[in-house]
Amino acid sequence: MAKKERKTRARKPYRIAVIGGDGTGPEVVREGLKVLAAAAETCTFAYETRQFDFSGARYLARGGDPAKPNIPVITDEEIAALKTFDAIYLGAVGDPNVAPGILEKGLLLRLRFELDQYINLRPVKLYPGVRCLLAGKGPEDVDFVIVRENTEDLYTGMGGVQYKGTAHEVAAQIMCNTRRGVERCIRYAFDLCRRRRDKKQLTLVHKTNVLTYVGDLWFRTFNEVGEEYPDIARDYNHVDACCMWMVKNPESYDTIVTGNMFGDIITDLGAMIQGGMGIAAGGNINPCGLSMFEPIGGSAPKYTGRGVINPLAAIGALAMLLREVGEPAAADRVEAAIAYVSARKLKSLAAGKMGYSTAEVGDLAANAVRKGLKA
Ligand code: IPM
Ligand code: MN
Repeated sequence: MAKKERKTRARKPYRIAVIGGDGTGPEVVREGLKVLAAAAETCTFAYETRQFDFSGARYLARGGDPAKPNIPVITDEEIAALKTFDAIYLGAVGDPNVAPGILEKGLLLRLRFELDQYINLRPVKLYPGVRCLLAGKGPEDVDFVIVRENTEDLYTGMGGVQYKGTAHEVAAQIMCNTRRGVERCIRYAFDLCRRRRDKKQLTLVHKTNVLTYVGDLWFRTFNEVGEEYPDIARDYNHVDACCMWMVKNPESYDTIVTGNMFGDIITDLGAMIQGGMGIAAGGNINPCGLSMFEPIGGSAPKYTGRGVINPLAAIGALAMLLREVGEPAAADRVEAAIAYVSARKLKSLAAGKMGYSTAEVGDLAANAVRKGLKA
C-alpha cells in the first residue's frame, strides 16, 4: 500500500464484522470487544463493528435439518456483505444439536474457501507465568509459529462413497493439493520466517515417506522456493516425528509450514504446549484480502453460558487481527495485557479454574490495555 493511501486509510474507521457463532463463541467475543474498545482509546484508531448472527441455533430456527444440510448456513448475500469489511472476528463454530460437518462446512470452511484465506496462522507461544505441561520448559522454549495451508488438502471435500451401509461400502477422501496452493503458502511462510526475530529456520512438515505424490509436491516446491531465501535454513520433519519434537524439543522450532490436515492436528498439540485452548489463537489469512481471526478452541458446549470459559484466546485472536489490519502498536499492547493477566492474575488458564469469571478476565485485560500493563 502506498504511503499516502495508508495515511488516508488510517483516518477511516476499521470495519470489523463480528460473528459470535455457537456455544461459548459469543461469550469470548464479547470480552474481546471490550479489549478492542480499550485498544482503540489508547492507540487512537477508530473502528465500527457489525454483529452477524450466523450459528447452529439460527440454522435450526430457519428450518435447517439437524441431520443433513438442507438450507445454507449463510447466504450468498451475507458473504457479499462480509466482503465489504476490513476483518472478521469469529467466536466459534459447532453445535451439538447439528450433525458434525454441517456448520463447519456451511460456515467456517465456506468462509475460509470463498474468501480465499489460504493461510491459517497459529502462533505457539507460551506466555510468562503460564504453567507448561512440558516439564522443564519455559517461555524461551515454546515460541514458534505454524503456517497451516487453509484451502486445500483433505478439506476440499473431494471424494465419495459407494454401496453405503452395505458390507461392500467404499469411502474415499482425497488429499488434493495444487502447485499454486502449495507455493503461495510456502512463500508466505518463508516471508514470515524472515520477519521473525528467531533462528531463521523454516521446517516443512509432511509425510513424504508415505504420501509420495502430495508430499513430493510440497517437498520439491519447498526446496525450489527456498532457493530464493538463502538467509533461511530449510528443515524437514515427517509429521509423526514433528509431534515427538514438539513435545521433546519445542525450542528447536522457529517457523513450521504444513498442509491443511497435518496443520489441524499439530496445532492442537501446539495449543496444549502453550498452555491449552484457553490461550490459543489463530488467523485465517488472505494476505491481499479479507482475513478472519478466531480462538482455536471451538464452541465448548459443556461450558456454554456458565461464564467460566477463558476469553484470552479470543483476545489473542483480536491482537492478531489488529496486527493484520495495520495496528501493530495496539497488537503489542493487547499481547502485553494477555501476558500480564495470565502471569499476574489467573490461577489457571483452564475453564472454571481461572479464579475469575469470563467477564472479569475480559475486564482485567481491557484495564491492562488502558494502563499499558506488562507481565
Ligand atoms: C480448526 C477446526 C476446524 C478445522 C473444524 C471445526 C472444521 O478444528 O479450526 O482447527 O478442522 O479446521
Ligand atoms: Mn482443529
